[in-house]
Amino acid sequence: MGKSVKIGLFGFGVVGQGLYKVLSQSTGINAEIKKIAVKNREKKRSLPAKHFTFDAEEILFDDEINLIVELIDNAEDAYKIITTALKNGKNVVTANKKLLAENFEELVNLQLETGKSILYEASVCAGIPIIRTIEEYYVSELLYSVEGIFNGSSNYILSKMQSESLEYSEALKQAQELGFAESNPKLDVEGFDAKFKLIILAAHSFGVYIHPEKIFNYGIAGISSFDIQFAKEKNWKIKLMSRVFKNSDNTISMYVIPEFVNQQSNLFLVDQEFNGVIVEAAFSDRQFYSGKGAGGYPTGSAVLSDIAANAYDYKYEYHKTHKELQYSYSNDIYLTTYVRFIKDLTISEYFEAVHQKFENPDNKYVIGKISITALSKLLTDHKEDIQFICNIGENII
Ligand code: HSE
Repeated sequence: MGKSVKIGLFGFGVVGQGLYKVLSQSTGINAEIKKIAVKNREKKRSLPAKHFTFDAEEILFDDEINLIVELIDNAEDAYKIITTALKNGKNVVTANKKLLAENFEELVNLQLETGKSILYEASVCAGIPIIRTIEEYYVSELLYSVEGIFNGSSNYILSKMQSESLEYSEALKQAQELGFAESNPKLDVEGFDAKFKLIILAAHSFGVYIHPEKIFNYGIAGISSFDIQFAKEKNWKIKLMSRVFKNSDNTISMYVIPEFVNQQSNLFLVDQEFNGVIVEAAFSDRQFYSGKGAGGYPTGSAVLSDIAANAYDYKYEYHKTHKELQYSYSNDIYLTTYVRFIKDLTISEYFEAVHQKFENPDNKYVIGKISITALSKLLTDHKEDIQFICNIGENII
């Protein structure tokens, strides 16, 4: 059953409440939430007041509490909680992908210095146990790429627009009401949340830590019914794709960009708040994982799994970081991309090659070969004019 765990919980939002329910219905784990720290004194809560405290230190310095579970949405506050907990001899479980992605190297080093651990399965693709799979199963495998749908809210919005012709704003509202979206939904629909998750997976897959600012991300915020129709006519769907892969020169590249996928793709049928991950490796070849990527219960279940793993003293070993081959990072890669824009731009000059141009009074687009570097420059130069960007998946060109 593992050791007895007394939990100090930070946050009682969608995931905190999900965990509370999941934990109360689980057997075979000797874990109990001793106290829950929350911020808002006015908010009505589903448990009696005696369960809560407004004082973080009451939990952080309680000697009886041997595990901090951090489920708040503010990355700065989470940083303070987690670093204080580790320095104070407590292990941590967190779902905070932004905090992890922005401070990955420091948090790995702090675990080594303190001898304490941080587990964060719930931070990436919620219900899909992908971090521990990559960390443990592929420990000696040579990975080529890890890619997929890592943001449940964007996928929910795209699914609703594609299958029910819902307006973008209505679909986003539903994703918020269902508790899938971040409190700042820009993180979801502009591709930041997916990028944070990609950074965490890249660290475990390739032993690289790349700061978020270096990685190109573009989300679905600018999508219109024109883009949806464009995809439908070809029997394609649009998915927010996150991808990390090894290039032939042993550099690593990463990006988050919407992508047209066809029915041959494993991701074609990954709809609603589901996520999907495809891992390509030298010997095990291509493997596909799918599960719920957002929501209180799937995320709570991943947190529970980390609580159980902690009870058995499990920690990440960061196996790939210790390999001899150290990869450098490169944005010097080419994509085949659809760019829809408003004004009569001399947009073609950003492309290495233009394959198709379209123009009617309401919509204009170009499809062609463009580098990530040129794509970034195009957005910097003409941010207001670029409406939507979407890659054309390799297998459908
Ligand atoms: N906002 C996130 C998503 C929650 O939609 O995927 C799960 O990390």
